Amino acid sequence: MRPLVPFFLLALPLLAQHSDTALTNPFNAPEDRRRGGEFYRSQCANCHGMDGKGGASGPNLATASLRHAPTEEAMFRVITKGIAGTSMPGFSMNGREIWQIVAYVRSLNVSRSATAARGDAKAGEQLFTALRCATCHTDRAPDLRGIGQRLTDAELQLALLDPSAAVAPEYWIWQATTTSGQTIKGSRLNEDTFSVQILDSAGRLRGLAKTEIERQTLERRSPMPSFRDKLTGRQLQDLLAYLVQ
Ligand code: HEC
Ligand code: HEC
Repeated sequence: MRPLVPFFLLALPLLAQHSDTALTNPFNAPEDRRRGGEFYRSQCANCHGMDGKGGASGPNLATASLRHAPTEEAMFRVITKGIAGTSMPGFSMNGREIWQIVAYVRSLNVSRSATAARGDAKAGEQLFTALRCATCHTDRAPDLRGIGQRLTDAELQLALLDPSAAVAPEYWIWQATTTSGQTIKGSRLNEDTFSVQILDSAGRLRGLAKTEIERQTLERRSPMPSFRDKLTGRQLQDLLAYLVQ
């Protein structure tokens, strides 16, 4: 589902050039950084490196001061317009997507979480296996690489203890009964006038014509179970230490 972005978001950075106050990023929530990371990996990583530390054809972005992008607003402009005379291209994504990339790139040079991790990462890795986190976190759930850069300790704990507190719409639990009596459960990836695209609970991508759907419900809840009662305080620290390493 592509969020609708009002036109003014695209126009703002241009207007701001004529004022004294620099714009700050309106899309800087954990969810924005996560999406920005996805865009980054697909659009930028081949030049700037998977970790942002620079690659064969692009400089290191994981530093506090960037020559062409000293402010967030300047980075927004660099990404939309490119840098003339160099191989840095301009990207025509919508304003919100660009801000999300800015949020992600900005997060590369601060480790939000690692400093506070007190647990034992090795023990955390074993818990990650024992609790079968990877059954979802390979295809049906967000990529957890670099999570310590995107989320603070408090945000990470919330994600584990109360997953439904903040869930992006593409993860809401969708359930339908078809006219032939079949029940389908999963997440709704996309919807147009005639059909719905679903990632079902077995991880299969399916398209359904709306005429085949008898009734459907959408729960604003995460498919991820809460681990509140399944982890001791110590185990939670170990798991966090593993996730942010
Ligand atoms: C084809 C390779 C390529 C791709 C793809 C690319 N870049 Fe670049 N980028 C460069 C190069 C080369 C420069 C350095 C330009 C120069 O000489 O100043 C650069 C510079 C930058 C800078 C300014 C760095 C500084 O030190 O001031 C930023 C920020 C940046 N890129 C972000 C991105 C983002 C975000 C993406 C993905 C949306 C991206 N780039 C995609 C090649 C690329
Ligand atoms: C049943 C599938 C499932 C299992 C099992 C699962 N997760 Fe998740 N997880 C998700 C989904 C879907 C999301 C995204 C929706 C949300 O924010 O809750 C998510 C979100 C997260 C986030 C926040 C990611 C972000 O980018 O904001 C973290 C951290 C996380 N999971 C860690 C874990 C860990 C650690 C385990 C094992 C202890 C685990 N998950 C088990 C499905 C799962």
